[in-house]
Amino acid sequence: MKEQARQARAESRIIGLAPTMGALHEGHTSLIKRARLDCSPVIASIFVNPKQFGPQEDFAKYPRSLDADTEKLTAAGVDSLFLPEPAEIYPPGFSTYVSVEGISERLEGRSRPGHFRGVATVVLKLLEIVQPHYAYFGRKDAQQVRIIAQMAHDLNLDTEIVTCPIVREADGLAQSSRNAYLSTAERKAATVLHRALDVARNELAAGARDTLQLQTVIRQILKAEPLAAVDYAEIVDVQTFEPVTRVARPCYVLLAVFFGKTRLIDNLFIEPAEPGADEMLFHL
Ligand code: PAJ
Repeated sequence: MKEQARQARAESRIIGLAPTMGALHEGHTSLIKRARLDCSPVIASIFVNPKQFGPQEDFAKYPRSLDADTEKLTAAGVDSLFLPEPAEIYPPGFSTYVSVEGISERLEGRSRPGHFRGVATVVLKLLEIVQPHYAYFGRKDAQQVRIIAQMAHDLNLDTEIVTCPIVREADGLAQSSRNAYLSTAERKAATVLHRALDVARNELAAGARDTLQLQTVIRQILKAEPLAAVDYAEIVDVQTFEPVTRVARPCYVLLAVFFGKTRLIDNLFIEPAEPGADEMLFHL
């Protein structure tokens, strides 16, 4: 892969990379389609990264479906598939890690200690191997892409980090490889994530700006679903991921909710229509 990347760079081609852990769905293929607008070649990587899973998490049973994934990627227009072996990413004696301080410690980072250290480390390795001009990530994992962008900035990486919109099922559930774990009843219950974000959006459109009030409404909706157990429901600044008391600048409503043993995340991106304006734009 390194040789291929070097050659593409030497030929002044614009390289795009979409890193994934496989078990691909339309959320993943949307990154490829977006990359095709800017890049040739478009490379997708599949690597289920052990270092971003906690000891009690689902690394061993994480869904793996290489044949189906290859078909989907080919159909989406990928030029090259990078499937590193664990020893290529973590050779014996591997001992260098990347920690993005501050942002990594909150929300997902608090619920999943060590997760973002594993993510940042593997993403840096993938970027170093492939040397893409652009790398594509989903806003579904809003905190992840913020952390990766911070790392790219702090470490002077020669890759632009591109954030792509959330792809959803017809009933609003954000596509996720982990949706496969849900029972029929849990799958139905999981639409509460989207419903709660929709209500938040309506409240904001009607002029609500107080985050305590918005959080109360969101929690009421989540609580009304008996199969849902809330991990967090927060409204944060998009840069710092610190809680805000009023929605007056770009913010995320971030949700993490358990349905049985399956933990799902979702979010709503809110930005003022123009600086200083009271009107808001929403990206659900
Ligand atoms: P994975 O969960 O496989 O996701 C790969 C990429 O697809 C991420 O950028 C994620 O945000 C994006 N994605 C997932 N679901 C999406 C959806 N419904 N809409 C839009 N984009 C979506 O995230 C990871 O893998 C890993 O942490 C990784 C970055 C590959 C590092 O190991």
